[in-house]
Amino acid sequence: MNTKRIIQGLGTALLLAFGVKFAKAEYQPSPEIVQAQEEFADSKFGVFFHWGLYSMFGQGEWYLNYGPKQEEYVKAAKGFYPSKFDAKAWVKAVKDAGAKYICFTSRHHEGFSMWDTDMSDYNIVDATPFGRDVLKELAEECQRQGIKLHLYYSHIDWGREDYPRGRTGLDTGVDLSHPDWKGYYDFMNGQLKELLTNYGPIGAIWFDGWWDHDEDKTPFDWELPAQYQMIHDLQPSCLVANNHHQTPFEGDLPGENAYGLSGQAISQLPLETCATMNGMWGYKIADQNYKDPQILIHMLVGAASKGANLLLNVGPQPSWELPATALNRLAEMGKWLNEYGETIYGTRRGDFPAQSWGTSTRKGNLLFVHVLEPEAPVIYVPVKGKVKKAYTFKEHKKVKFNTAEEGILLDVGKIDKDTIDYVVVLETTKL
Ligand code: GLC
Repeated sequence: MNTKRIIQGLGTALLLAFGVKFAKAEYQPSPEIVQAQEEFADSKFGVFFHWGLYSMFGQGEWYLNYGPKQEEYVKAAKGFYPSKFDAKAWVKAVKDAGAKYICFTSRHHEGFSMWDTDMSDYNIVDATPFGRDVLKELAEECQRQGIKLHLYYSHIDWGREDYPRGRTGLDTGVDLSHPDWKGYYDFMNGQLKELLTNYGPIGAIWFDGWWDHDEDKTPFDWELPAQYQMIHDLQPSCLVANNHHQTPFEGDLPGENAYGLSGQAISQLPLETCATMNGMWGYKIADQNYKDPQILIHMLVGAASKGANLLLNVGPQPSWELPATALNRLAEMGKWLNEYGETIYGTRRGDFPAQSWGTSTRKGNLLFVHVLEPEAPVIYVPVKGKVKKAYTFKEHKKVKFNTAEEGILLDVGKIDKDTIDYVVVLETTKL
């Protein structure tokens, strides 16, 4: 399952999430946000780390929802000692993969905070024998190695009594008779203040869980405008993402509708598609079903061709180590990007919707044609503008083409069938 969401500045999220609060014309992103959005859109590839107390159980990040009682679950914290903790190793793996940013789960639905928060003792420093602020070390290492840090933050908390339960986390044994939205909102904002004050520049806050709310059961106003405003007041360049499970919805690349849930017009805001490498976000011991490097590379190209970044997830083990297969996949992505990065980084969506043979990305007057599934020796490529030159990306060898209606017929007969992505560069007139 992959999830699509939108990175934006203040206000527009609401427009997209709820469709009512702001008229589009009213939303004026600040110059800092506009610049951050551009940089984000240029970066194209990030790595998601789902790592928390849940990693200890090896059953994915939703484990608490599926049976254990909170009272028992919290006991795992006393044994949480990530003996291989080494922020450098994670950041290096991400850099070697050619990714430009990390999104780290600071606190997932289980409610365990992965930093030294003063808002609750249920955190990696106060509740575990490890006692180190892993977020601090990760943030410092990201700055050292020039990788942007985004923070996932859950709007849901299954462990707290004040969180007004929605549809999930109802069976954890926590007393649910005193929900207190105001108190919980203050708690979250207190935590966000810490995250945006004590850990250097944060590229984005990545919210998740708005979708859990059951308005009939516990009516309250999410007060997201104030929450987003606080984020921008604390860090004017910090983007806000909300995985709201609303249109645009889960399951498809932007504009596609393979799952029957999506298919909306593509937003002009920078987009990001997140995906698991195997089938689970948090570490799942029984899931070794990793996607092949070719599939992952095709996902990256597919996302870029729609103007979206790919946020590829890894669920590190309780020790903090990355599963060996995940490390291998990251290295494979890096190898490919090392050679083909120019056709991905800094590009914007291609000229046409995905074809059965592949797709395209654009950078100025260069259209990169990505042939992913070679099928015929000559393919029709829709192109905006006139094609002046066509050559292979790798060897810079001329490729034959004939002008056709609103595009060209491109000779790809020389394609090596084993190539993961055969890229032909079309130099076009200025658009
Ligand atoms: C869903 C899940 C969550 C996961 C997220 C990643 O919202 O609830 O476990 O972190 O998707 O996109």
